[in-house]
Amino acid sequence: MGVWTLNTSDGDAITRRFRYDRAPEIRRWSEMREYFTATPLDNPVIYTVFGWQSGDGVTDLLATLTVLNAGRIGRELFHTKGHYHRSPDGAEYITVISGVGCLEVARDADTSPETATLEPGVHVVVPPGYAHRVFNTGDATLVYISVCSAGLGHDYDSIRSLGWRIAR
Ligand SMILES: [Fe+2]
Repeated sequence: MGVWTLNTSDGDAITRRFRYDRAPEIRRWSEMREYFTATPLDNPVIYTVFGWQSGDGVTDLLATLTVLNAGRIGRELFHTKGHYHRSPDGAEYITVISGVGCLEVARDADTSPETATLEPGVHVVVPPGYAHRVFNTGDATLVYISVCSAGLGHDYDSIRSLGWRIAR
């Protein structure tokens, strides 16, 4: 099993020192094109997720470290895809290592999202059953840690098909 070793607030150093036991998930624009309205000149990496989990059950934990780059495609800030969890029976904890951003949470597609500012030292909880996604609102890489039950699972299709009520 991997071990969290976070020794610096510099994003590059964190990713070098972070030991993980899942393959990093690298999200380029080319696999997120339905989440943006504009088309970039190149195919930037929007974010990378490093993960560690103790197992697949509801009593296991999934911990991820997300490195969300700074940038825009057209007028839209770089952001994560956003997802629901397949099970509504658990919350998700998020804390920020470096950078600044915005967390959006929404109960469903007909409810306006609520937002929380993300910056180092902030601790937030995504309520059970709420969709959530993160924007990098700054000029530097946003690095944050999330922890939830490994048994919650992920539902990306609902966001992709329903979208978010507030467009940016
Ligand atoms: Fe989540």
